[in-house]
Amino acid sequence: MNLDEIYVRALRAGYCGCVRPVLFTMRGGDPEKIHGQMIGILGHMPETLMAVAQWMLDRDKNPVEVAGIQFPGRVGVAAGLDKDGVAAAAWAPLGFGFAELGTVTAHAQPGNPRPRVFRLIRSGAIINRMGFNNNGAEALAARLTGAGVARGNNALGCPVGISIGKTKRVPLDGAVGDYLFSLETLAPYADYVAINVSSPNTPGLRSLQSQQELEQLTSAMTGRARELNPDNPLPIFVKLAPDLSRGELHELLSVCEDTGIAGIIATNTTIERGGLDPHDERLSGQAGGLSGSPLTAMALDRVSWIASNTDLPLMAVGGIMSPGDAQAMFDAGAALVQVYTGFIFEGPALVLGINKLCHPGAGKIIA
Ligand code: FNR
Repeated sequence: MNLDEIYVRALRAGYCGCVRPVLFTMRGGDPEKIHGQMIGILGHMPETLMAVAQWMLDRDKNPVEVAGIQFPGRVGVAAGLDKDGVAAAAWAPLGFGFAELGTVTAHAQPGNPRPRVFRLIRSGAIINRMGFNNNGAEALAARLTGAGVARGNNALGCPVGISIGKTKRVPLDGAVGDYLFSLETLAPYADYVAINVSSPNTPGLRSLQSQQELEQLTSAMTGRARELNPDNPLPIFVKLAPDLSRGELHELLSVCEDTGIAGIIATNTTIERGGLDPHDERLSGQAGGLSGSPLTAMALDRVSWIASNTDLPLMAVGGIMSPGDAQAMFDAGAALVQVYTGFIFEGPALVLGINKLCHPGAGKIIA
């Protein structure tokens, strides 16, 4: 074992042995309350503490250019972790190479009734049915203005992606206008925008992954991005579900290529329930999307297949719980990876481990 591995292992042991047990039991063990509190704390970290975190964690990133964006590192914050950008300034010092904020919608909305997040500890998994609770696109724009963020200015030390979804009360035939409003509101701040059509928690949303619907949406979005900035249009990514068939994926990749999409994010949570520890089976009936370890093989399968069927760059997400899982995604052709559940279960050591121990290779990095 070399020094890098020892450092990562020690950090992981500290998080998993001391910090995680406290985080998983505080506030009655309610995952959403603890998450909100931690994001709030990260958003108000004193500068000295942030500098210490940066010294410990912000190391050995592997820079890469994807879709014309300079990423200082390959591992990013997955959408949903910091929906309203409350902790936006904390992600680069914690070692992340980019942060995908959101998903936000054109109108602020409360999301589904609580409880809506369930931790499946023995399975290393989460089931969530948040339903895009967020303060809306304009509130995120105001927060980013306050933080001095503008597209390309690297004010937070890393690129900012913004995930956009459909407002629940807007009918599906108004979806394009709803997404366009968020795009126009947030384009001045984002280094890329991700179209989220793959959350299982907004009724009907995944139907926007049908070939015709997606074509309408992606061509409207890339068209507007070109109108807003003809010389350097904002890159638009599409985030897909792992539950699509090969045939559906094939059609959707063609749509993305034909409508000027900059890259693919794969995958969102799954509606399947395979791979759970027997102890967690009692929670398997909870509605929502499953993430974490039970998704690892499925997401890798989708990423490998997508990488061999398109030249579009790929951000891989889904069940990345260790540097080895991230390496498998890089080997499959991902240029970048994102983490959510792995970060909750493994802490900042996961990010550091990916930065220090993975060899991302060339991947498919050129748009
Ligand atoms: C998510 N995810 C998610 N994705 C998205 O595009 N927009 C969102 O708002 C959310 N919200 C969200 C909330 C919670 C509580 C979880 C656990 C997940 C999905 C996330 O970005 C990611 O695609 C999946 O969770 C799979 O990755 P992990 O968690 O296995 O690393």
